[in-house]
Amino acid sequence: MMRATATACSNIALIKYWGKRPGSANLPLNDSVSMTLSAATTTTTVHWDASLSQDEIYFDGERLLDHRATRISRFLDRLRERWYRMPARVHTMNSFPSGTGMASSASGFAALTVAGIAAFDEGLPPEVELSRLARAGSGSACRSLFPGYVEWVAGHDDESSLARPLLPPEHWDLRDIVVVLSAEEKEVSSSDGHKLAAIHPFMDARQQQLPARTLALKGALVRRDFETLATLVEHEALEMHAIMLSSQPAAIYFEPATIRVIKEVRRWRDDDCLPVCFTLDAGPNVHVICDASVAMEVRSRLATLVPTASLVECRPGPGVRVHGDHLCP
Ligand code: PMV
Repeated sequence: MMRATATACSNIALIKYWGKRPGSANLPLNDSVSMTLSAATTTTTVHWDASLSQDEIYFDGERLLDHRATRISRFLDRLRERWYRMPARVHTMNSFPSGTGMASSASGFAALTVAGIAAFDEGLPPEVELSRLARAGSGSACRSLFPGYVEWVAGHDDESSLARPLLPPEHWDLRDIVVVLSAEEKEVSSSDGHKLAAIHPFMDARQQQLPARTLALKGALVRRDFETLATLVEHEALEMHAIMLSSQPAAIYFEPATIRVIKEVRRWRDDDCLPVCFTLDAGPNVHVICDASVAMEVRSRLATLVPTASLVECRPGPGVRVHGDHLCP
């Protein structure tokens, strides 16, 4: 039976991918750096089945018939071009509730890439090819293939734009406590946002500063220097949102509670000397990054500050893995 299952973690970018070059290969304007998130996973089973008349895609057991199914089928076409041409039955589920605004395209396309190829039962290709394929599904998915702290080298074409592991999970036990504030649909999709960002007048200035910032961030990770990390990570998140806010049309992802959490986190660091900082995705949720030693304290402060939010605490997670816990019989 041509069937396999893979689980991949989502990731949070510390240096952001926001802005891509024209074309369908998801080639970013700049290098990015992320932490793989242990508690935000997607598990996907792919079963290639020549008896099907078309792909069947199921999410949490429900058949998908909308744009999400089309996007997945289009991605499967890339695998069919390279391996065998036949329809697939795909079952997928996330460890976190859907509609939380937590990024699922990164973990989703990383798991789909690896399960889809593993199901052909001919072994997995080299990591560089997995990275290229996952990137084609969703840019940030290439970083979700790898454990711990990961770098995506922008490169200049489809061959050279590759993710690779930077530091293993055990190097630094940082925590990302995701403060889930809203389940609203995004008003600007990340795909449209990347295109708007690429032509944004601030983008040249950003690109000029990024090589030095990225180098400094990698240095802070290597030295486990929280203070430097905090300054760079917050600057990076706010700069990305400055571009989002001033794109045309504007992408305003903040909710009032987003600002409340950001301001408190900065106060906890400045006034109470807690090793804590924030970053953001293309959404209202705040990713509160802290040293493991203060994770309990930070969680309890967040629970008091935003009692209605749910908190998802992640460690530096493992890379994508193939296993036998299939989602369909
Ligand atoms: O992979 P995409 O197209 O969903 O883009 C990810 C964009 C951000 O999450 C905002 C930043 C990043 O580098 O992950």
